[in-house]
Amino acid sequence: SEEERKTWFPRRIQDLDHTPSNTLSFGTDLDPDHPGFNDPIYRKRRKEIIEIAVNYRHGQPIPKVEYNTEEVATWSTIFRHMTQLHPTHACLEFNNMFSLMVEHCGYKENVIPQLQDVSDFLYSRTGFTLRPVAGFLSFRDFLAGLAFRVLHATQYIRHSSKPMYTPEPDACHELLGHAPLLADASFADFAQQIGLASLGVSDECIKRLGVCFWYTFEFGLCRQDGKLRAYGGALLSSFGELEHCFSDQSVMKPFDPPKTALEEHPITKYQHVYFVSESIEEAKQKLLDYTKTIPRSFVVSYDPSDRRIEIINS
Ligand code: TRP
Ligand code: FE
Repeated sequence: SEEERKTWFPRRIQDLDHTPSNTLSFGTDLDPDHPGFNDPIYRKRRKEIIEIAVNYRHGQPIPKVEYNTEEVATWSTIFRHMTQLHPTHACLEFNNMFSLMVEHCGYKENVIPQLQDVSDFLYSRTGFTLRPVAGFLSFRDFLAGLAFRVLHATQYIRHSSKPMYTPEPDACHELLGHAPLLADASFADFAQQIGLASLGVSDECIKRLGVCFWYTFEFGLCRQDGKLRAYGGALLSSFGELEHCFSDQSVMKPFDPPKTALEEHPITKYQHVYFVSESIEEAKQKLLDYTKTIPRSFVVSYDPSDRRIEIINS
């Protein structure tokens, strides 16, 4: 029934094979001003790679993609620009973890890392794994993944005509924007906290929590040594938006979950406003306090040994 569909949530990691809703796709749900919209070769390539995600089941190794010259060139452009900006624009935790990715995960300019290799590395550091996904997921489904320390990750590469900003997640975003911080123990806990808080809550609460997730995990900024630094993955994978964000064109407000939760959150355009915390720890604490105000008739806890959610009725 409709009611059951809404309140269902994954209890075991295998249940992520059955998340009920679908991904939004460009051309139908997302803006048709996508740079690859009128490129039939690009669309065909996308379809090939998306097949992997559609057929994927928990426990399988993520198939490797043999990226073509054009895809690698796009990765290289982004890698070069981002690694130039990260030292001055990214938070310390990100930069520290990025060195580890270079050292242990083969991050370099001329090779696109494979999701399975990155997943294995993250698992050894923080218990996070990657799961291939066909495109932009609903907040409910994406956050449910985080509850299990799973990052739903796209595997295709953005259109080569616009490396500086793409209107939807791609593998460059996952690998350069998210993966490094998920190797950091405290940040991994932060991500999972949001995920756990999302399980089984109403649509209205998911939206609010989702927008807080948006302005932290995706677009978050903090201060370090008096300087503004990005920790949000969508900023750390887009040199177009990162530079826009740090310019005098952008609006900054303090991160304050009850208020931030009510903001708009454009998916396919630069954000109108960004939210700043005094530190990642502060953002984490504020978000944790906020999750305690979300009504739920039970308490959840995660058992990392068999990656299962325990429910305690209260
Ligand atoms: N703009 C991001 C990039 O270029 C990708 C992206 C677009 C995105 N919309 C998003 C990421 C929404 C997270 C959420 O890397
Ligand atoms: Fe993302």
